[in-house]
Amino acid sequence: MAGNPDPRFRFAGKVAVLGSGGQLGRELLGRLEGDVIPLTRRDADLTDPDALSQLIRRLKPGIVINCAAYNFVDKAESEPQTAFTVNAFAPRILALLARQLGFLLVHFSTDYVFGLDAERAIPYRESDAPGPTSVYGTSKLAGEFFVRSLAPEHLVIRTCGLYGRWGAGGKGTNFVETMLRLARENKPIRVVQDQLLTPTAAGDVAVGCLQMIHNGVRGLRHLTNSGQCTWHEFAQAIFEIAGISADLSPIDSASYGAAARRPAYSVLVSEYKDTPRLRPWREALTVYLTERSC
Ligand SMILES: NC(=O)c1ccc[n+]([C@@H]2O[C@H](COP(=O)([O-])OP(=O)(O)OC[C@H]3O[C@@H](n4cnc5c(N)ncnc54)[C@H](OP(=O)(O)O)[C@@H]3O)[C@@H](O)[C@H]2O)c1
Repeated sequence: MAGNPDPRFRFAGKVAVLGSGGQLGRELLGRLEGDVIPLTRRDADLTDPDALSQLIRRLKPGIVINCAAYNFVDKAESEPQTAFTVNAFAPRILALLARQLGFLLVHFSTDYVFGLDAERAIPYRESDAPGPTSVYGTSKLAGEFFVRSLAPEHLVIRTCGLYGRWGAGGKGTNFVETMLRLARENKPIRVVQDQLLTPTAAGDVAVGCLQMIHNGVRGLRHLTNSGQCTWHEFAQAIFEIAGISADLSPIDSASYGAAARRPAYSVLVSEYKDTPRLRPWREALTVYLTERSC
């Protein structure tokens, strides 16, 4: 696989992919071969524990990759029940099933499990204490704790600032596509300048995840493209690389007034040698924008 920029992976046994219609799920599916079972909300609604349980028992997978999530960060503040059902209690059920049935559970989490430390200015490692600032971040943290404490064979991957080739299935878009649309519509665009992240290509995370499964990596891992920027710098880079002009201006989070508090700094780094090192975020973004314009 080394040297191949877009490798394909085949594993023994069935691989069930939950949230297969989302941006990460689709990137994973495109790189998996063999006995792969894509599962969408119609096949398995994570708010229905009995149906989820029955389906997984019937499938008898060797690996379950859970890309499904309640990702509406602001809406989660007023819908904590749904956020916890999908992001915490469904992963708990999957983890219990993984223990009973003996499959590997691969689960995704987020940089938003951090943020309470307002002074933080160096990347978070896996061993750093989490502290979320929102219902979404708290529900995702609860989900990863359930998986880590209940599933003997697990791989929990925290990632950050995802954009995928097809846009987010759940949200129907992603930050890059939203910026391009607003520029096309000649709308004034205000983007926060006081939140640092690592924009990350979902395709790169998919490859990194599959490499880790292939290499037998277990536990908690941070997986993002490398480097960091503010959301405003991310937007600037999108317009610069795409070669389009936009009415873009920076704004502070306080003035923006989103319902959920987001981390001022949520850059992730891995302290483990077995975590694939992904390319710089700007390089990945350039490839994304070049491919989407082809
Ligand atoms: N997007 C980011 O910037 C980001 C950053 C850090 C971490 N993550 C994590 O990365 C993972 C993948 O995110 P993503 O960006 O690929 O998300 P996405 O594109 O929004 O996809 C999420 C998927 O979950 C499905 N889903 C939501 N509620 C469901 C339910 N009740 N039952 C079954 N399926 C349900 C959605 O299906 P529908 O289309 O039917 O709604 C959608 O296919 C998630 O764990 C997320 O928390 C994302």
